[in-house]
Amino acid sequence: MKPLRFRWTVLMSSSSSQSSSSSQSSSSSQSPEERILIFDTTLRDGEQSPGASLNLEEKLAIARQLARLQVDIIEAGFPFASPGDFEAVQKIADAVGTETGPVICGLARASRADIKAAAAAVRPAAKPRIHTFLASSDIHLKYKLKKTRQEVLAIAPEMVAYAKSLVEDIEFSPEDAGRSDPEFLYPLLEAVIDAGATTVNIPDTVGFTTPAEFGGLIRGIKQNVRNIDQAIISVHGHNDLGLAVANFLCAVENGARQLECTINGIGERAGNAALEELVMALYVRRSYYNPFLGRPAASDAPLTQINTQEIYKTSRLVSNLTGMLVQPNKAIVGANAFAHESGIHQDGVLKNKLTYEIMDAESIGLNTNRITLGKLSGRNAFRTRLVELGFELSEDDLNKAFVRFKELADKKREVTDWDLEAIVKDETQQAPELYKLEHVQVSCGDKARPTATVIIRTPDGAELSDAAIGEGPVDAVYRAINRVIDIPNELIEFSVKSVTEGIDAMGEVTIRLRHEDRIFSGHSANVDIIVASAHAYVSALNRLCATLQEQRPLHPQRETAFQAAGV
Ligand code: KIV
Ligand code: ZN
Repeated sequence: MKPLRFRWTVLMSSSSSQSSSSSQSSSSSQSPEERILIFDTTLRDGEQSPGASLNLEEKLAIARQLARLQVDIIEAGFPFASPGDFEAVQKIADAVGTETGPVICGLARASRADIKAAAAAVRPAAKPRIHTFLASSDIHLKYKLKKTRQEVLAIAPEMVAYAKSLVEDIEFSPEDAGRSDPEFLYPLLEAVIDAGATTVNIPDTVGFTTPAEFGGLIRGIKQNVRNIDQAIISVHGHNDLGLAVANFLCAVENGARQLECTINGIGERAGNAALEELVMALYVRRSYYNPFLGRPAASDAPLTQINTQEIYKTSRLVSNLTGMLVQPNKAIVGANAFAHESGIHQDGVLKNKLTYEIMDAESIGLNTNRITLGKLSGRNAFRTRLVELGFELSEDDLNKAFVRFKELADKKREVTDWDLEAIVKDETQQAPELYKLEHVQVSCGDKARPTATVIIRTPDGAELSDAAIGEGPVDAVYRAINRVIDIPNELIEFSVKSVTEGIDAMGEVTIRLRHEDRIFSGHSANVDIIVASAHAYVSALNRLCATLQEQRPLHPQRETAFQAAGV
């Protein structure tokens, strides 16, 4: 029995305090009947969550990790949205879309300009895909598209055929399929398959359907779409009623063979179906799901090709980079998912794990006993361990991370893999460093007014220093920073949690701030949580500044291509 983990967490939501004054593809060796394809849309639908926007380096880091996780398809973005989005999809296609890597997909509204941009962006991938969509529900047709069913029935296959002339692998989604009339969906899907769609994706765009309804919708499509055997049925769903994963599993029972999901379930509004929950449900309950794929119940062959041991690491990476925290009781990847608090449960688990555990923490790569390096460990041991953990750093990043490791090893007797991950992420996965925090110092105590001094290097190289008094030490630091970096903002979330157990644990600080109607996040880890708080804040401000310099990206679903083109 492994020691039960104990972690500390502080979560605070504030609407006040800080303002400026203050593997393989669908064409892989296994046929889709033999397994379920995992289509990850963290970098597209996930990135549409408020405040989750990522820079190029961060998108590349996530895409590389998704490849290690062995997702089948990465939806890398919406290339028409902005030059930055285009470049990110193109770079991912080039760096991650190798022959043995995942399919790289770009989203496009049903318009020639969108499709052309998507085709150009995914072109460097060995297995490129275009995902084009057009709404099919009467509500969307009437109020959003201002088009008739007949018009949609003409535009969709025309755009699929155009996409097919550029890229072989085409996916089509009738947006808001969950609220569409099946009698309209059937001929629409038939038409796009005839035009060359190889995957038809059925989105529950507003998270409205129930599992039995969604399963029934997929069954109806299987039974009524004449040419459905020429395409893979995919599902996409939002979690507005908390039913996305259940809906997908019902869809699998009825013939869906591709699941569109995101890490930690991030995405528009309440998010998308969570990849880790779907994959682990299909893993833990494979004897239940096997027969739906025509396998004997006892078959041990995995239902997905996901390397489940990479799940936890992927979850932490996405959470750190997007600033979207994982709730402690979140299934599979929450801090409490494998913790046993109650005495009865602990007793049972000690006698036999099966009493209260349906899966091993190790199966998602959550190794609870990973004490590794210490004060005397050298650069080689450090590098070797990082490689074992899946981090391949440039010489420069390795040097920076090694300095941080030595500093930490001086303060902490045992440096665990968790600490190493936190250091590497902190040193290498940061927002562009426009402003650099050179120094932070705080004095506080029960009889003192918390006072902070900061020194910040500005983008033009000047070193500015200022000081402020605050309600608490973090408030004082943020006020001092605001005196140097004067950008109005409102701190809407501040969270501190420990990286490891113990009094000498490193603290990870995640913050989210709002500037006008946009949200930006910052993240940092340090044994001193005041220092981590200061770095997290500067990192969020750097993101804010970098974004203000860029063109605001288009949202794929809020504006139709017809409106944009004045059609
Ligand atoms: O939710 C949705 O319908 C989408 C489509 C673009 C597939 O994200
Ligand atoms: Zn969506």
